[in-house]
Amino acid sequence: MSSLPAKVIQLHVDKERSLFKVPRQSFVDQSVFEAERRIIFDRCWLYVGHASEIGKPGQFVTRTVAGRNVLFNRDTAGRVNVFMNTCPHRGATVCRDRAGTAKNFQCFYHGWVFGSDGTLKDQPGKESYCEGFNAEGGGNLVLAPRHEEYRGFHFIAFDKDIVDLSTYLGNAKEYIDLVVDQSASQMTIVGGSQEYSLRANWKLLVENSIDGYHASTTHASYLDYLKGTVGSLAPVPLVGYGRDLGNGHAVIEYSAPWGRPIGQWIPAWGEQGKADIQKIVDGLTQRFGAERAQRIALQNRNLLIFPNLVINDIMAITVRTFYPLAPNFLHVNAWALAPEEEGDWSRKSRLENFLEFLGPGGFATPDDVEALQHCQRGYENAREAGWNDISKGMAREKQAMDDEVQMRAFWTEWNARLARAAV
Ligand code: FES
Ligand SMILES: [Fe+2]
Repeated sequence: MSSLPAKVIQLHVDKERSLFKVPRQSFVDQSVFEAERRIIFDRCWLYVGHASEIGKPGQFVTRTVAGRNVLFNRDTAGRVNVFMNTCPHRGATVCRDRAGTAKNFQCFYHGWVFGSDGTLKDQPGKESYCEGFNAEGGGNLVLAPRHEEYRGFHFIAFDKDIVDLSTYLGNAKEYIDLVVDQSASQMTIVGGSQEYSLRANWKLLVENSIDGYHASTTHASYLDYLKGTVGSLAPVPLVGYGRDLGNGHAVIEYSAPWGRPIGQWIPAWGEQGKADIQKIVDGLTQRFGAERAQRIALQNRNLLIFPNLVINDIMAITVRTFYPLAPNFLHVNAWALAPEEEGDWSRKSRLENFLEFLGPGGFATPDDVEALQHCQRGYENAREAGWNDISKGMAREKQAMDDEVQMRAFWTEWNARLARAAV
C-alpha cells in the first residue's frame, strides 16, 4: 500500500479555529482514484438493488456495481441472489439483458446453461467432461462474496470479512426506517432506472446530494417556478438539522414548502388531494402514533450511506447510486421509490414532483450537474487554489440543515479509510 499518495489525502482540520479544508487534488489525482477503488469501493457495502425490482420468482436485473457486472435475481424457489455476471467457463457475460424473467441463463459463447439458482445445468458436449466434473460447484455461477438486505434494500460487498450490514448501517437505519415505514405493505421502485453521467468527481455528487446550503441559490429556478404556480407552496420554512451518523453516513432532516404526497398538502392539490393526504396521515398515525407520523409525513430527509448510496425523501423519493470511471467522470443510476399501495392521485402527484425536481431533466438535476462540472473544472484548471472549505456550522453545537457537518462526516471516514490503508 506504499503507493498511496499520502500527501494528497491530508485534510486540514483545525478544531480550535473551526476550519475544515479538503485538498482539491483528491478530486483530480489518478492515484487517489485508484486508491479509492481498492480501499473504499472494494471494502464497503454497496447498494445493488431493491427487492421490488425482482418481486416475482425468475425476475432478474443486471447492473454494474463498482465496475463489476452483476446478475441480481429471484430464483424459481424465491431466493434472492447476486451473481458475478461472468461465465465460470471462460468469462463471457452470461446474461446480456438489462431485465427480464428467466428460469435458466445460457451463456452465448459455448452454451453452458445455468439454473436461476446459478447451478450448472447443462454443457454442450457434456460427454467430453469427466464424471463428477461439477461435484464441487466450480462450474456454477459465482455469488458476490457478501450479500445482505435491510428492509428491501439489497447490498453486496467484495470483502468477505466485512462487518454485517446492520452494524455497517448503524444509525442510518433510523432514517431508512422513516422512508420504508411510509408503506403499510412495501416500498416499490416505480418506472425503471434513470442513468446519466457527469464530468465530475464522484465525491462532488456525494456532497451535493446532502447539501442544504445550495438549495436556494442553485435551485432558485425551481423555487421561482413553484412560487409562480398558484398554490404550489405551503407556508413552511426551509429549516432543520444536519447530523453525522457515524461510519461516514450522514443526513439532513428539515421542513420545506413543497408538497409531499406522503403528508404535506399544498393548495394546488385541491380538496381531493387534501382528503387523500389526510387518509394517508391517519394511516401513519394509527401505525406509529402522532409524533412519528408527523415526522414521516412532514419532514424531508437527504440521506447518504457511505460511500455511494443516496436516499432522498423530499417532494418524491429518489434512490441514487454512482461509481467513478475516472477521477473526472462518474456514472449515476437512479430510481423513484414509492409506497406500493398508494392511490392513483398520490402516485400521479409524486411522479410529477419527481419529474419536476429529481429527474435527470427536471429543475434540479441539470443545475446540480452544471455546478459540479464547474467545480471540477476549477480543480483541474486552477491548481493554484488548492483547498475546498467545508467549515460551515463547525463552530456551533447544533448543526442546521444548511451547515456542512454532513460533508465533514463523509470526508472524515474517507480520510480515515485511506490513511489506515497507507500505514
Ligand atoms: S464462456 Fe460461457 S460457455 Fe464458454
Ligand atoms: Fe441540488
